[in-house]
Amino acid sequence: MSEQGKVHLPVMLSEVLSLLNPTPGRVYLDMTLGAGGHAQGILEKMQNQGTFIGLDRDAEILKIASENLSSYNICHFCHSPFSKASQVLKKMSIPQIDGVLFDLGVSSLQLDQSQRGFSFQKEGPLDMRMDKSQEKNATDILNKYSEEELVRIFREFGEESRAFRFARAIVEARKKFPLKSTLQLAQIINQEVSFRKGKIHPATKVFQALRIETNRELEELTMALDAITRKLAPGGRIVVISFHSLEDRIAKQFFKKKSSEGVLEILTSKPTLPTREETKQNPRSRSAKVRCAQRTST
Ligand SMILES: C[S@@+](CC[C@H](N)C(=O)[O-])C[C@H]1O[C@@H](n2cnc3c(N)ncnc32)[C@H](O)[C@@H]1O
Repeated sequence: MSEQGKVHLPVMLSEVLSLLNPTPGRVYLDMTLGAGGHAQGILEKMQNQGTFIGLDRDAEILKIASENLSSYNICHFCHSPFSKASQVLKKMSIPQIDGVLFDLGVSSLQLDQSQRGFSFQKEGPLDMRMDKSQEKNATDILNKYSEEELVRIFREFGEESRAFRFARAIVEARKKFPLKSTLQLAQIINQEVSFRKGKIHPATKVFQALRIETNRELEELTMALDAITRKLAPGGRIVVISFHSLEDRIAKQFFKKKSSEGVLEILTSKPTLPTREETKQNPRSRSAKVRCAQRTST
């Protein structure tokens, strides 16, 4: 995608484009711009006519996207959490949008940079902030939260059945030394359970929970879905790509509620899933689910 080889393969691109249906002359908002993979597909369909706004809370990624998309002249790039998208639109004097995309979670660009601390497979500081200007990071959570709070986040955000055991091990370990690195945490978890080949790594859910808590991901999504639906023009579409059940549940329940209120019409009665071919080519797509709804004219 760029000359530096900074690539994030957009997940389910053709399915997303056919649901979002980008049309020249209209207004589209990418809430999770990342390196701009989906954005490029949307912009191609828009044929350089209309307005495209790309948000990301990660300033470094936003810079990469603006380079990758420099040949399109209808783009506006904004460093903002998506929960504040309405304020961004207000500042730009854009009253309504015709489509919005959420591609949730982290980008492979963020995962691949060990110093960002997202991966339990690479040594790095336990950071996990998508927005580096934010104060609290994963180290603060791990060292300052009480055992009960750790249990709660591992259960709620990781759906981890061994939450109590892992939280206890972390609290015991931090009495001896401060927890600072990704591999240090992975090792503490590993010592509690034996890693069986072919099974998911035992630290997967703890890392997911810490990331969600650090970035307040579920609150962000809940707030953003509600706020942005108010900005959708009649017939405007909202597409959500989620990667775990917690995110998917929020999108599903939100669409259901708004559909019962007559505000949205659900266009995917069941989530659209990736093809077998895509999951082979891009393993990250394996857990993806796409849901779409359309603003009614009421
Ligand atoms: C999965 S990637 C998006 C990849 C992109 N669709 C592409 O094709 O290149 C998710 C991106 O959303 C950003 N992000 C996640 N949560 C966000 C939030 N609450 N507000 C703004 N950006 C967010 C992340 O920083 C990351 O760059």
